[in-house]
Amino acid sequence: MRLAGKSAIVTGSARGIGAAFAQALAAEGAKVLVADVLDGARTVEAIQKAGGTAQFFKVDVSDASSARAMAEAALSAFGQIDILVNNAAIFASLEKKGFLDISSDEWDRLMAVNLRGPFECVKAVAPHMIARKSGRIINIASGTVFKGQVGFLHYVTSKGGVVAMTRSLARELGGHNVIVNAIAPGLTMSEAIAENPMWSGKASQPTVMSRALQREQEPKDLLGALVFLASEDCGFMTGQCMVVDGGAVMR
Ligand SMILES: NC(=O)c1ccc[n+]([C@@H]2O[C@H](COP(=O)([O-])OP(=O)(O)OC[C@H]3O[C@@H](n4cnc5c(N)ncnc54)[C@H](O)[C@@H]3O)[C@@H](O)[C@H]2O)c1
Repeated sequence: MRLAGKSAIVTGSARGIGAAFAQALAAEGAKVLVADVLDGARTVEAIQKAGGTAQFFKVDVSDASSARAMAEAALSAFGQIDILVNNAAIFASLEKKGFLDISSDEWDRLMAVNLRGPFECVKAVAPHMIARKSGRIINIASGTVFKGQVGFLHYVTSKGGVVAMTRSLARELGGHNVIVNAIAPGLTMSEAIAENPMWSGKASQPTVMSRALQREQEPKDLLGALVFLASEDCGFMTGQCMVVDGGAVMR
């Protein structure tokens, strides 16, 4: 119970990696606001069934007023916000296309969610953390930032921005004892990815073979890093990006 007495917001936690994150934080004793544009009832039920505490809040992270309402909902439900996990993103639904075929509207919509979304959520939550001189912000980037990838220029660029944002936020918030780090997962078999033949089965093999640990990555492979970054164990590490990908990228 490394997070007993803490409360957390996990964006994009109705399914996939975010749902696993929400359940892992709850299993360590944190009360969790499951925040997503999709219905998060399944994640809330799983947490409650396991004896944890969770509530759902419908949020669009790209909308500043919606992000503020999310922070208020967490405060009114739990009284405090100790941990913000910026996990929501447009990813699993993306089509692979050369950058010449990405329209300006697609670019803007993706950036609004994947890059401005974390910004809006931090703006909504940080004043509370600053006032308490305590907080953890964990941004979800991607290992693809350190490799480059054909066919997803907007996505990879947005995640590069998340890494840069993590470093600058760590410096802006360090004086307030708010610790900001990122996790960069490799290709992970969240349900939407596992169901998509563009990513799973035969298509995932080149990625698997690029790893030192040559197997598929599952959401549970990310949980140790998440809980560490959220816990007291990570009291003097900030501005970092932990690559958790079985050793494909080594920095
Ligand atoms: N699965 C992978 O291979 C992989 C690899 C590297 C990084 N990531 C990152 O991990 C995170 C989770 O990925 P996943 O595979 O579980 O994807 P996913 O698409 O299954 O989950 C993303 C979640 O974000 C939510 N969301 C989307 N737009 C939103 C918005 N505007 N407001 C609130 N919620 C919104 C979705 O409803 C969904 O529940 C993402 O940040 C993704 O970029 C995933």
